[in-house]
Amino acid sequence: MGRSRAAIILAAGKGTRMNSSLPKVLHTVGGKTMLNWALDLARGCGCERIVVVYGAHAPTVSQAAAEAGCAAVLQDPPLGTAHAVAAARAALADFEGDVAVLYADTPLVQPATVRRAFEALERGADIAVLGFDTPEPGAYGRLIVEQGTLKRIVEARDATPEELAATLCNSGVMAADARTLFDYVARIGNDNAKGEYYLTDAVAMAARAEAVLGDAAEFAGVNDRLELAEAEAAFQTRMRREALLAGVVMTAPETVFFHHDTRIGQGATVEPYVVFGPGVEVAPGAVVHSFSHLEAARVGPGASVGPFARLRPGAELAEGAKVGNFVEVKKAAIGAGAKVSHLTYIGDAEVGAGANIGAGTVTCNYDGFNKFRTVIGEGAFIGSNSALVAPVTIGAGAFVGAGSAVTKDVEADALAIARSRQEARPGWAARFRERMKKDGAKRDGR
Ligand code: UD1
Ligand code: MG
Repeated sequence: MGRSRAAIILAAGKGTRMNSSLPKVLHTVGGKTMLNWALDLARGCGCERIVVVYGAHAPTVSQAAAEAGCAAVLQDPPLGTAHAVAAARAALADFEGDVAVLYADTPLVQPATVRRAFEALERGADIAVLGFDTPEPGAYGRLIVEQGTLKRIVEARDATPEELAATLCNSGVMAADARTLFDYVARIGNDNAKGEYYLTDAVAMAARAEAVLGDAAEFAGVNDRLELAEAEAAFQTRMRREALLAGVVMTAPETVFFHHDTRIGQGATVEPYVVFGPGVEVAPGAVVHSFSHLEAARVGPGASVGPFARLRPGAELAEGAKVGNFVEVKKAAIGAGAKVSHLTYIGDAEVGAGANIGAGTVTCNYDGFNKFRTVIGEGAFIGSNSALVAPVTIGAGAFVGAGSAVTKDVEADALAIARSRQEARPGWAARFRERMKKDGAKRDGR
């Protein structure tokens, strides 16, 4: 690659239109904050140094940048995009190479697109601007191109009617060699409609500016919650598309919701109406049936989940395991081929390979203060409607009679029955009915 790359991420805008107590760039798309999308974008296109410019209203943005290992500089008050870039100058004083200016409120931009801007610099451009063509240029800055070369950018508010008719727009992403960029920025004034320092004025200062065109949808910015929901929808569409092209089977992809880190293997099936929270991995050949909700869980090859199952953090299903309808699994390993088919809670537990957990089984893992573990051995059989009061171990191959409340360990291959013994009273029901026929009517007052 030769030349070093850095990024300045602009995030000092107030974001008033979000109507939110949270700073705009800390809202999420696909479960990842827009700030982190920008940071990952910068890393993804090879930036080794990243500086986040934040505003005084949002100190948590600086903390978030620090947590991600990036520098953050305060721009106070925010006087425009060129002023924001100038605020990052000191943080990059020792940097030599190319710098991209990115916005923290455009979460859909792809690393490959920004790389094309860097490549334009490597081909000799002084400044490269990512732009797009749209029939509705609205309030975007217009790229003014004369004889095939980018001459300047004019902001919509400052444009003449002819300039406003131009449909090539500025995405906001720009790249230039660090020294050149800071030199331009130092010379930019604020004699314009907004009285702001416009970064876009840098283009007219360059001897050779190049417009690199991309897809308008990729540059969609988020200014309010409606646009945030639209960005989320665009992200979901992209994830569904990628999953389908990678060989995931989905008959109604539009009803499946992904997290940015969801990983689904080739040939796995995801039925309609499934929601993936953070940290889910589904192995090839597994099936996630409808209306299931998964979070920080691993589903092994050929395993089956749902319909109507909930896998909470730490649920791990080995090969061929089955978790059926109305089953909740938390922090528990379900062994290969084990079956938890109906109406069950398995939490803080280990279920051995081939074990069968009957309908309505509950691992009683919590006493109101602490959590305890349940260990169920390989091939064990837990009768329906059993309460396994942890800490407790059911040995391999053991049987637990239906309706048991198991409080003590059960040894391997034993039968444990922990319920009151059944009493039989022959003829009782017949005598009861007779008595009711005689006396019942009187008691009803008829
Ligand atoms: C800017 C561009 C415009 C482009 C549009 C694309 C300029 C002058 N105009 O306009 O050509 O079409 O983006 O969306 O650059 N910010 C700061 N500090 C500031 C001002 C802004 O950090 O002092 C940040 C904002 O948080 C935001 C970004 O810079 O992330 C863009 O600012 P915004 O005010 O939205 O610029 P636009 O008027 O949309
Ligand atoms: Mg804007």
